[in-house]
Amino acid sequence: MSLPDHGANPKIFTKALGVAYEEGSIDFSVNTNPLGMSNYANFTQSDLKEAISAYPEPHAEQLTAALARYLKVDKSRLLAGNGAAELIFHLAHIYQGKKVLLIEPAFSEYRDACEANGCEVESLVLEDPWKINIKQLEGRLAGVDLMFLCAPNNPTGTTYSMEEMSEILNCAKNHNTIVVIDEAFYDFQESRQTLIGDINQFQHLIILRSMTKMYGIAGVRLGYMIASPSLIQRVKNIQPPWSVNGLAQKIGQNLLEDSTLVNETASYIKTERLRMKTELEKMDFSVSDSVVNFYLLSEKDKRDLRPLMIFLIEHKIIPRHTYSFNGLNGRYLRLAVKTKDENNTLLSVLKKWREQPC
Ligand SMILES: Cc1ncc(COP(=O)(O)O)c(C=O)c1O
Repeated sequence: MSLPDHGANPKIFTKALGVAYEEGSIDFSVNTNPLGMSNYANFTQSDLKEAISAYPEPHAEQLTAALARYLKVDKSRLLAGNGAAELIFHLAHIYQGKKVLLIEPAFSEYRDACEANGCEVESLVLEDPWKINIKQLEGRLAGVDLMFLCAPNNPTGTTYSMEEMSEILNCAKNHNTIVVIDEAFYDFQESRQTLIGDINQFQHLIILRSMTKMYGIAGVRLGYMIASPSLIQRVKNIQPPWSVNGLAQKIGQNLLEDSTLVNETASYIKTERLRMKTELEKMDFSVSDSVVNFYLLSEKDKRDLRPLMIFLIEHKIIPRHTYSFNGLNGRYLRLAVKTKDENNTLLSVLKKWREQPC
């Protein structure tokens, strides 16, 4: 049985690994908001009855209008989806059979969606500390129709400066390459910069966002994309009607009213992530320069971390393995920034690991 491609699957993961799952384990492989679901995700009984019994709007028209106001973009440039994952698959379908470049290590669904659609998938694998070399990128763009860039990146947590993003976009423009910037974790950064404001200028830019992680609504599913009106129309043409269910449409509009959650979460995450980094480095681990709610942990010599992974599971900590990420190959573990108590539990287990006789 192979290890699952996603986090948040602790029982399937431990079974595949052949290690017993301990009830009460803490799941550090899930990267949703550690402070919990937004209070604005609540709904009344009558909202629920309506969401279950009535057909929702076919393309979430009211939610799209609310998003357009929230993001200050024209609604012709917006499309909501059943999670950002749905939109990734539609984009891969539109570019079926074409050449796609992935900047890896990255979210596994880009590859899965592109391969399922017969794309010719190429990969530029970045090395620790995962900086992008524009010259090297330029050398890989000839003939590339579509490129996926995850920023901030899952699984490293690192991101690119606005200058680097602009350089990447200009470089892609010269090669007629469409660039998808996946900003699924955008809201978790304390210092948030995006190219959404410049979207009118970049016909070849697509921005993806997810609402499932920040607002803690992974089960309801909600994401959206921002792109040129013509590209939005092409995706809309293949998106089944009612793809965003009634509950997600209702909750999505309410969430946009939650003005405090994003800032409070981002501020908490920064403080807690920096505390963890300091403590982990004191224990001689390496920690990626993440700007979001997860980070990569490794040993200085970059050895395979399977023994540590098993030790953590036996001590009720579920990490995210990295065997499925091109360029990481099990030499890192992805760990979420959780509550203070949960993070302290992780630190004490790692301390035990360090104190073990070799
Ligand atoms: C980088 C990235 N993009 C997109 C998604 C999918 O998000 P959603 O839950 O909105 O489908 C994920 C989910 O983990 C992700 O990590």
